[in-house]
Amino acid sequence: MQTVIIGSGNVAYHLAKAFVLNTIPLAQIFGRNEEDLKEISEELNIPYSTDKLEDADLYIICVSDGSVENVSKLITKKNCLVAHTSGSLPKEILEGEYRKSSFYPLQTFSKSKELDYKKIPFFIETENEFDKRVLFEIATKISENVMESSHEKRKYIHLTAVFACNFVNHLFSRAKEISDSQQIPFDYFLPLIDETVQKIHEIEPKSAQTGPAVRNDVRVLQLHEQLLQGESLEIYKTMNHSIKKMYEL
Ligand SMILES: NC(=O)c1ccc[n+]([C@@H]2O[C@H](COP(=O)([O-])OP(=O)(O)OC[C@H]3O[C@@H](n4cnc5c(N)ncnc54)[C@H](OP(=O)(O)O)[C@@H]3O)[C@@H](O)[C@H]2O)c1
Repeated sequence: MQTVIIGSGNVAYHLAKAFVLNTIPLAQIFGRNEEDLKEISEELNIPYSTDKLEDADLYIICVSDGSVENVSKLITKKNCLVAHTSGSLPKEILEGEYRKSSFYPLQTFSKSKELDYKKIPFFIETENEFDKRVLFEIATKISENVMESSHEKRKYIHLTAVFACNFVNHLFSRAKEISDSQQIPFDYFLPLIDETVQKIHEIEPKSAQTGPAVRNDVRVLQLHEQLLQGESLEIYKTMNHSIKKMYEL
């Protein structure tokens, strides 16, 4: 089975690495960013190209969501399977006469951070049983957690991930702005952050909520508002409003 990964960003890199670590053959990594492709190619020992797409049975498109449709048009072969890795796009976004699918890994990928691929949930959607078996065979070599999912369900999986990961990480960035502004080392907060995440392995998030908003501690809330300005103040007010609504305070 000849497989080509298209793209050279975070997902392309990790997927290529997962293939190599699990001895799944990769024919090529293809894209437009020669510097990034070269780096991946040298680290993982996979051929790369920016102009000649290798003939393959499977193409996995790992480019920005806004470019998936255009990039999919580069694949002119008819008798092949093409997958994208987006959480929100339907498989029908792919523009070609090939078989279409989705191969969505539910994780946050950054090139500089190593990952345990075995724990990543993969969500697969295909047009037929044969393609489902092909993608399941690959994904189960990489991960212990592979599932089928319709686009309808995947949209909500991705939306949940935005709240559970992207927004939470943004709050870490805002929190660090505050600690940096007072020369307080952000390292102090790492045990707190770790415990917050560990706790929800055992307790429902709603039951795990602490802090001034859920205690309806008006004096503390007012004090914090005086210390803040700009975007962080807006976020502070919105979050407290949401907490109070959830707990009917
Ligand atoms: N990152 C995550 O945590 C994550 C998790 C699950 C799924 N996904 C999905 O995986 C896909 C890739 O995400 P990513 O995080 O890997 O993105 P990324 O790190 O931003 O990389 C995007 C890649 O797409 C390439 N690209 C963009 N427009 C292009 C075009 N018109 N022609 C050719 N190449 C183009 C970029 O090339 P340049 O370097 O030249 O711009 C880069 O290689 C997306 O569909 C995303 O939703 C991401």
